[in-house]
Amino acid sequence: MDNDSSSRIVARLREIISTQAPGSKLPSTRALVAEFQASPVTVQKALATLAAQGLLESRPGVGTFVRAVRKARPSDYGWQSAALGSPSALPSSASTTMRSVSNEAISFHSGYPDRELLPERLVRAALARASRSDAALSRPPVAGMPELQSWFARELGTATPAGINPPSPSDVIVLPGSQSGLSSIFSGLVGRGQPLLIESPSYWGAMLAARNAGVVLVPVPSGPDGPDPEELSRAFARTGARMFYAQPHYANPTGAQWSPARCEEVLEIVRRNGAFLIEDDWAHDFGIESTPVPIAARDDAGHVIYLRSLTKSVSPAIRVAAVIARGPARDRILAQRGAETMYVSGLLQAAALDVVTQPGWQTHLRGLRQQLQARRDLLVTGIREHAPQAHLNRIPRGGLNLWLRLPDGTDLDRVSEDCERAGVFVAAGTEWFPAEPAGPYLRLNFSGPNPGAFPEGARILGQVLGQHG
Ligand SMILES: Cc1ncc(COP(=O)(O)O)c(C=O)c1O
Repeated sequence: MDNDSSSRIVARLREIISTQAPGSKLPSTRALVAEFQASPVTVQKALATLAAQGLLESRPGVGTFVRAVRKARPSDYGWQSAALGSPSALPSSASTTMRSVSNEAISFHSGYPDRELLPERLVRAALARASRSDAALSRPPVAGMPELQSWFARELGTATPAGINPPSPSDVIVLPGSQSGLSSIFSGLVGRGQPLLIESPSYWGAMLAARNAGVVLVPVPSGPDGPDPEELSRAFARTGARMFYAQPHYANPTGAQWSPARCEEVLEIVRRNGAFLIEDDWAHDFGIESTPVPIAARDDAGHVIYLRSLTKSVSPAIRVAAVIARGPARDRILAQRGAETMYVSGLLQAAALDVVTQPGWQTHLRGLRQQLQARRDLLVTGIREHAPQAHLNRIPRGGLNLWLRLPDGTDLDRVSEDCERAGVFVAAGTEWFPAEPAGPYLRLNFSGPNPGAFPEGARILGQVLGQHG
């Protein structure tokens, strides 16, 4: 076959096609063979090339036709903005923590633990068993699989002191991740235009969910020991708020853990104000030097709405969490859940329950504690050695993050960009503040891939900060 003559035929046919109307029939192969003085195979090859380019269409037994060329028209969706009107709040773009980066990058930005920290063997076996069970084909109740409700209730119940009624399984509502629980709580219990007290800094996703529900955020300053009780009391009195969102254990991003006395004080303030505490226990399974005792365990009067997630400790693919609440608050959250998702996949609930009830789960959690400690210490040492400009107020006793204060006046965006150019991904602290940031902060997550590269990541961060100093 002659490639040159095939290309020649393609070029000539292109010229012809450009003058023809869509749908025009081309001369037969035999006629083209005669016209181009080429073999039938060469002509067929040229026609196939043009068909592959979308210029011709061959209809077997009928002939070859010029195709209508679709020209890309610029899209104009302006009418949609007119129809939808101005939004009450512009939708926020996804957090930098949710960015996917290449495997070669040193990633301190993400919030989700690397695969080596997950109970992979337990998860795979649980999914296989769940796929063979009834759960694969049936619809669970709106509040969740009764056995999983019982497990979540037992977990909180084990921390409940004598004289306090432990939660019952019916107080538990299973969620497809705690993020959606936050949305339901804010929509169902706070409502549009109403104030929500929130630690500052705090989890960006809670602020996103609250803003989306039209809730007004009221920042309460929070340090390494938690919120200042006097500030909290003043904020309740000033705003008339009935709800306070907080993370008493290994807060994201600061890593703060409240002392038992601070927990008691905050619970007392909440009670005095006839209010609710939303206790987000996202890092319950990530204790390093301590084991979290939820505030919710000390409350049987319905003041604490407790969130517990298995997303990061079991698997981000089995995204199961729960909210534990009592009384009308529980009923309203359940109504909200019914409206939003109706129920959580029974397959995923069965798999989550299987993982956390295997003897191997406790062994996994013990190993995880050691791995997190080693990773945290490696990064702390790297930062102290290579990036002394970054001040670490306190080494967190659990969780997944270091919260670093950079020198005043540091341009966070430029630091992030320069680090990224050198292959290191960090998260600027700005996203964690409900109002103006209290200073230039960076959050470094130590649960990402390849901890062996942490010292190198710290060295690059130090170099970048040196250039900005
Ligand atoms: C404090 C906090 N709460 C809730 C969530 C959301 O958890 P889930 O993945 O279970 O929706 C996160 C995730 O990063 C978090 O950091």
